[in-house]
Parts: sequence; structure tokens; C-alpha cells
Amino acid sequence: MEFSHIPVLYKEVMEGMAVRADGAYIDGTVGGGGHSSGIAESLGDGGRLYCFDQDTEALAAAGKRLEKFGSRVHFYHDNYVNAVKDLKADGVTGVDGILLDIGVSSYQLDNPERGFSYNEDAPLDMRMNRENPLSAYEIVNDYEEKELARILKEYGEEKFAGRIAKNIVSERAKAPIRTTFELNEIIKMSIPAKMRADGHPSKRTYQALRVECNRELDVLKESIDGMIDFLNPGGRLLIISFQSLEDRIVKNAFRTAENPCICPPSLPQCVCGRKSKGKVITRHPITASAEEAEENRRSKPAKLRIFEKGEA
Ligand SMILES: C[S@@+](CC[C@H](N)C(=O)[O-])C[C@H]1O[C@@H](n2cnc3c(N)ncnc32)[C@H](O)[C@@H]1O
Repeated sequence: MEFSHIPVLYKEVMEGMAVRADGAYIDGTVGGGGHSSGIAESLGDGGRLYCFDQDTEALAAAGKRLEKFGSRVHFYHDNYVNAVKDLKADGVTGVDGILLDIGVSSYQLDNPERGFSYNEDAPLDMRMNRENPLSAYEIVNDYEEKELARILKEYGEEKFAGRIAKNIVSERAKAPIRTTFELNEIIKMSIPAKMRADGHPSKRTYQALRVECNRELDVLKESIDGMIDFLNPGGRLLIISFQSLEDRIVKNAFRTAENPCICPPSLPQCVCGRKSKGKVITRHPITASAEEAEENRRSKPAKLRIFEKGEA
């Protein structure tokens, strides 16, 4: 299958990253290498781009696309949560820009055998990293009812989380739930017909399972501070998120990095001693233009936020 990811907010990312020819950059989610191509294009021989992805198929596609840039580009098969640790181990002391374009790629969604799409009949999987032991199959077939309901409610904001979890548990007692279409049937019977108007009934459950399977919110939360610390003065962290839970994490982490003071507002001056790490460049998130949203419907929910590291 062709890797045909159209980079979201491409122009805005390039402007925000403001790549210097001799700078060092991280693409934490290289995917098909669309954004990385733009970054690598702007680098000179002294510049470096470190590309991460937890999906070996994405890395293979990006490797091919970025081959022409030779030793300017380096690849790592790892979760971006480990990017700073991996680079430090390789002697890199800081970078001038980091991009995270989180979530699934079109390739993963469109490739039925990966089990990300409720529109294709496939084994339940949803692992971005196929070396991980936990897939959607284990979550659906092994998790306790209460835990399933919590995940669907918290990560999918699914109103019928309790009913879906209950029906999953009673159906799997008869036989394991193996495929996306089997799961779709259970979700459908759990949501009253008149409440099914808001998109595909499986949309929220699939989002929740994907987030749980890939620990998407946890790795995002665990990464932001360390990435800001790894930026050189004036360097920027750019994060594109696709759903409100992720965007809230980014917004709050950036706000705290800008203003970490925990003193009560009644105090005339700060006594907690916490220092700002820099400033939020985007007071409001950058979203796709009407033109981009029209051309690429996956860009519609995208929100880009940018943080700039202060001078030392
Ligand atoms: C939306 S695509 C990125 C597309 C890319 N910006 C481009 O222009 O082609 C997201 C990619 O990030 C990867 N990914 C998501 N979460 C990740 C994580 N925590 N660590 C490493 N890779 C991740 C996915 O496997 C996928 O290939």
C-alpha cells in the first residue's frame, strides 16, 4: 500500500519551525516523512534531522522519501517519549526545533490489516508499534467491565460507555470478539437508534481503544517538559493534536512551562522561585484554512500549538 499522508498544516509548521540551515531538529512522528521533507530541504550540510516513529512501516516509507538527504537525516524506531534519552545517548546535547504530529497516519487508517478503521473488517489490533504485546484484542477481550467503561468514557467521551462495556463482556463470554465488524455490531446494539446521528456509532469507542492501546495521552504528558528542556535557547516545540483531550494536555503543559509560579495570587511577589521556560507563541491554536480543510478532511480537527524556549 502506498504511503500517501498529506502533511497537515504544512505551511504553518514550516513557518513555525523557522528552520536554520545549521540547526538540529526532531520529528517525533515522522510518518510518511511529509513534514520532515520540508525540514530536511531547508537544512545545509551542517544541519541534522532526527526522525522517530514507533511504526516500522512508517519509518521504511520515510526512509525512502528522505534518502536523498543522506547523512543529514537519522532514523530511530522508538516512541517519541524516548527521543531525548535516545539522542543524549548518541551525544546530542540539544535541538532547535521539535515537531509532534500525533495520532494515526492515513496509511495506518487506510491499511485494513492494522485494525484502526471501523469501516474495514479486520482483526482487532490498533497497535502503532507492532512489537507491543497489548493490542485492541486484549483490551476488548481481557479488561474488566469497569475498566472498559472507564476507558470508553474518559478517552472516547462515549455517553454509552457503560452499556457498550456491559455488552462486550456478555458477548465475549460466548466467544472471543476477534474483528472490527464483530465489535461494531456490539457497539451498534448498545446505542439507541435515535442517538446514532452523530457520525459512525463506533467512532468514539475506536478512539478510546486506540488511545489505551498506544498510551497516547500518557506519552504526550510525559514528553512535553523534557522536550522543552532539550530545546536550545530560542528553539521551538510544535505540537499538532487531533482531539480535545490531547489539545488540553498541550495547552496546559505549555501554559505551566510559561508561567510555573504556584504562589497564591494574594502574595505581592513570587516566592516559589519557579522560573519560566519560555513563552507560548500561539495564544489560540492554529487550525486548517478553509481551503486545506476542503482538500484534506483529516486536517479539520487539527490544532497546532507552539512553545518557544527562552534565552538561557
Ligand atoms: C499523523 S502521522 C505523521 C505524519 C507526518 N507528519 C508526515 O508528514 O508524513 C503520525 C505518525 O506518528 C506515529 N506516532 C504516533 N504516536 C507516536 C509515538 N508516541 N511515538 C512515535 N511515533 C508515534 C504514528 O505511527 C504515525 O506514523
